[in-house]
Amino acid sequence: MTDMTDTASATGRNAASRLARISLDRIIELQDPSGAYLASPTFSAYKGYAWFRDGAFTADAVSSAGGVESANRFFDWCARAILDRAAQIEEIIAAAEAGKPLPDADMLPARFRLDGSTGDDDWWDFQLDGYGTWLWAVAAHAQRHELDAGRWAGAIELTIRYLLSSWRRPCFDWWEESTEQVHVSTLGCVAAGLRRAADSAGLDADIAEHARGAASEIRALILEEGIANGGLAKWLGSSDTDASLLALIAPLGLIEATSPIGLSTIARISSELAFEGGVHRYLLDSFYGGGQWPLLSCMLGLAFNAAGNSAGAFASLMWAAGTEGPSGSLPEQVPNHLLAPELRDQWIERWGPVANPLVWSHAMFLKLAIELNVISPTKTGEA
Ligand code: BGC
Repeated sequence: MTDMTDTASATGRNAASRLARISLDRIIELQDPSGAYLASPTFSAYKGYAWFRDGAFTADAVSSAGGVESANRFFDWCARAILDRAAQIEEIIAAAEAGKPLPDADMLPARFRLDGSTGDDDWWDFQLDGYGTWLWAVAAHAQRHELDAGRWAGAIELTIRYLLSSWRRPCFDWWEESTEQVHVSTLGCVAAGLRRAADSAGLDADIAEHARGAASEIRALILEEGIANGGLAKWLGSSDTDASLLALIAPLGLIEATSPIGLSTIARISSELAFEGGVHRYLLDSFYGGGQWPLLSCMLGLAFNAAGNSAGAFASLMWAAGTEGPSGSLPEQVPNHLLAPELRDQWIERWGPVANPLVWSHAMFLKLAIELNVISPTKTGEA
């Protein structure tokens, strides 16, 4: 543990505290009346859409900050999106049980329009992680604020049954890539969600039992086939790593930070993917030239903190604070250190400048700031 009472760190803490407050305000201001947390209000390719992945991590941060109503509204929005697709989910489950799984195109989408409808733009839509992450976030929220999770029980059960039927399938990962693989971060989000939701109030005992069983099976599969060089691997059988794996350590808590696997994962990502505090997604990333993502620096900070390295965690927070743009906005990535600089311009031509603000970046900054007691949870951020 490091004593952070010297002047330099006190100045840093004040700056981080200000940006954490701005982040909470920004997230709540940008929340759609429907309850959806849109990914980015201005970025051409994300405008008008909300993802379960970004939104679940955002709701978790807002809930941790005391924003009970805002998080409730997001989870209500998720529950509506799931319940509206009950017939589709039953078809997916029936087909899987009959040994004739539906094609990827008939699975649930990764992102939704703000009114909960499915968009008609082409997207890399079949992704399972967000469904696990929403389960984890809603159950953690209910427990944190002692709320009756019965409000979301129907949607929680349907989501659990969807995941039980389909978690073994390859799908696109967090970065909406490599659809032919079974991604360890996806499996981890699903296992964390099933495990946490199994203890949710109002859940059918049989479904809860199946959820617990699948969570253990998925965790065992990760330990058996999803490890490279002692740490978590990008996908089953891969020798590479990926910064999304940090989430399995914290905030999802599926892998103990101080376990050999937790420590090796943190060490490998720190040495391969972090440069002067800024974290890349993975070594071959070329999206906008493969820059550094503040939300991933914050995830590295959460993992450091969970492993007892609060000084490292604070340094990660301060690196992310350094990416602040005009009027306190945090971008998706910065181009200070690019892995594929020659490919940046083609993305700018295709989709315009990098997403800024990215709501998820604000969320992870807020989450780490709370974990480090840079700000305290309060009800003041309520809409
Ligand atoms: C990222 C996703 C993210 C989406 C919206 C994509 O570029 O790869 O992880 O969910 O943007 O923020």
